[in-house]
Amino acid sequence: MSASEISPARVTLDPQTGVLRGAGVTESVKTLRQLAGYFRDEAARAAMDPETVLYRVQSYEPQPEGVEGAICCATTFLMPGRVGDEYFMTRGHYHAAQDRPEMEVTVSGEGVLVLMDENRQTRAEIMRPGSVHAVPPRTAHRVANIGTEPLVFVSYWPSETGHDYGEIVARGFSGRVRQINGKPALVPEPEA
Ligand code: F6R
Ligand code: ZN
Repeated sequence: MSASEISPARVTLDPQTGVLRGAGVTESVKTLRQLAGYFRDEAARAAMDPETVLYRVQSYEPQPEGVEGAICCATTFLMPGRVGDEYFMTRGHYHAAQDRPEMEVTVSGEGVLVLMDENRQTRAEIMRPGSVHAVPPRTAHRVANIGTEPLVFVSYWPSETGHDYGEIVARGFSGRVRQINGKPALVPEPEA
C-alpha cells in the first residue's frame, strides 16, 4: 500500500482575527456612500465623509453565487460608529432562494443581529465572541455594531442561495438598532 500525500488546506480562517486567506478568497468594501438611503437619518449620513469605510467582507465561495454544490463562508469586519443615533450596520438582505438558511459565528466585538421574518416581525440577538446564530429560512438579516471595536463575524450559507437586497431597499427593516438614553435598543420603525 503506497501512502498518498496529505495536503494543507488551500484556505485558512484565522480564529483570532477572522481573516480569510488563500486561493479564491475575494474582498469587497462598503462605504457610507454606498449605504445612501439605508439609515434612518439620511441627512446625518450625507453630512459624513462618504468614503468612510463601514465594512469589509472577505468571501470564500467554492461555487459561484446561485450555483449549488458548496457551502460558502465570509468574514465581515464591521466598523464601530453611528449615523445619528443608529449604529453602523450592514445593508441586510433576504436570500433569493428563500428556503435557504444561514449561520453567523461571532469572532470579536459586540453587535446585534436583526432578524425579520416574512411577516415583517423583527427580533434581535446579541452577538459576542463565540456566539452562534441560526438565521432561519425566509428571514432578512442585518448586523449592527454596538461596541467600540470592529465587530467581526463569519457567515456560512449554501452556494445556491443568492442574495435579494431589493425588498430592504424598498421597505427597510421594521426595527432599527439605535442608541436610546446611552444604550442600544431595537426600536420599531413605522412604515413610511
Ligand atoms: C451572506 C451574509 C453575509 C453578508 C455580509 C454583508 O449571506 O449574510 O456574509 O453578506 O455580512 O452584509 P450585506 O450583504 O447585507 O451587505
Ligand atoms: Zn445572508
